Amino acid sequence: MFKDKNLSPKQLAALTALLLSSLIALSVFVWFQDWKVLLAYFIACFIAIYLILDRILDFFIYRKIKLIYKLISQTKATKREEAYQKYILPKKGIDEVREDVEEWAEQKFEEIKKLQSNEEFRKEFLQNLSHEIKTPIFSIQGYLEILSDGAVEDSTAAMKYISKSQANVQRLVQLVNDIDIITNLEINKEPLLKHQFMIQDTIKDVVNNLSFKLEKKGVQFHFKKGCETPIQVFADKNKIYQVLSNIITNAIKYGKQDGEITASIYVLEDKKVLIEISDNGIGIAEEHIPRLFERFYRTDDARSREVGGTGLGLAICKHIIEAHGESIQVRSKINVGTTLGFTLPSKG
Ligand SMILES: Nc1ncnc2c1ncn2[C@@H]1O[C@H](COP(=O)(O)OP(=O)(O)OP(=O)(O)O)[C@@H](O)[C@H]1O
Ligand SMILES: [Mg+2]
Repeated sequence: MFKDKNLSPKQLAALTALLLSSLIALSVFVWFQDWKVLLAYFIACFIAIYLILDRILDFFIYRKIKLIYKLISQTKATKREEAYQKYILPKKGIDEVREDVEEWAEQKFEEIKKLQSNEEFRKEFLQNLSHEIKTPIFSIQGYLEILSDGAVEDSTAAMKYISKSQANVQRLVQLVNDIDIITNLEINKEPLLKHQFMIQDTIKDVVNNLSFKLEKKGVQFHFKKGCETPIQVFADKNKIYQVLSNIITNAIKYGKQDGEITASIYVLEDKKVLIEISDNGIGIAEEHIPRLFERFYRTDDARSREVGGTGLGLAICKHIIEAHGESIQVRSKINVGTTLGFTLPSKG
């Protein structure tokens, strides 16, 4: 009946009642030397002491515990919590209650930590966003001032400042579009439209679409030997196109002049396909790698070289790949090159 030290208020009342009523009954037996009287006293005392103690414990301990549980499970208890408080709680010992409170405290601690990091993330996001918006807006403002100060009279100068303004407007449009894409992915506004397609075909489409950039930098694209055989994946083709486009654009941007880009495709064991895009460009220092997929994150190299970009490309890639339930990783070595790899399911 009382297996451990962890007694519920009712068990505690019963145990105390048992001890006290045995003592009283024994004293009475010494006095009267009659077993019947002993039994009668024992039963009467046990019931009386048990009921009194049970009431006392209920009033001074159990009700207060119940109050703690009410506070823990927020103000208004659900039906399940009410049933719990009515039927399960009275059977709980003080140690079990302590364990529940500790578990609750731990849970709250985790929640607070998460809220704090979300708050940090929000602040950093707004800071980055305002910075990214400020730069092109101030440039446009400057060009417009130059134009209104007289440059508009000189048609060549006017055209120069107008096209510079247009480039900055384009940058703002790109920024808003990228943020829109990330937000939509985050709130699952656009569900994935998955179907079976050949990954090599999509890579070729992306490369064809970016051919002017490849040619401008003299970059050669090729599939790794043995990776040309068409392999099927089951994914949202348009979104994977976007991922490949971001990764290959990076490979060109941060790649060497007259360098090369290699695509490798591997069939993995658990119905997965691994797609890797490698370049032999500037590479990424190790300290940047853990933060590379964060929004607006750019390495110092990318910033100082001013190769454009807002640092949202890889964040979008990560969102898209994770929405597929897959993962994306990077391997890189300074001045050797970078490989971006992601997995996709091969079948639906
Ligand atoms: N292949 C690569 N080689 C070297 N550095 C890279 C490569 N890919 C990405 N990076 C680094 O990672 C950063 C983040 O990449 P990401 O694509 O998110 O942003 P971005 O290219 O700067 O801008 P965006 O893609 O939004 O136009 C880049 O700024 C660059 O510093
Ligand atoms: Mg990019």
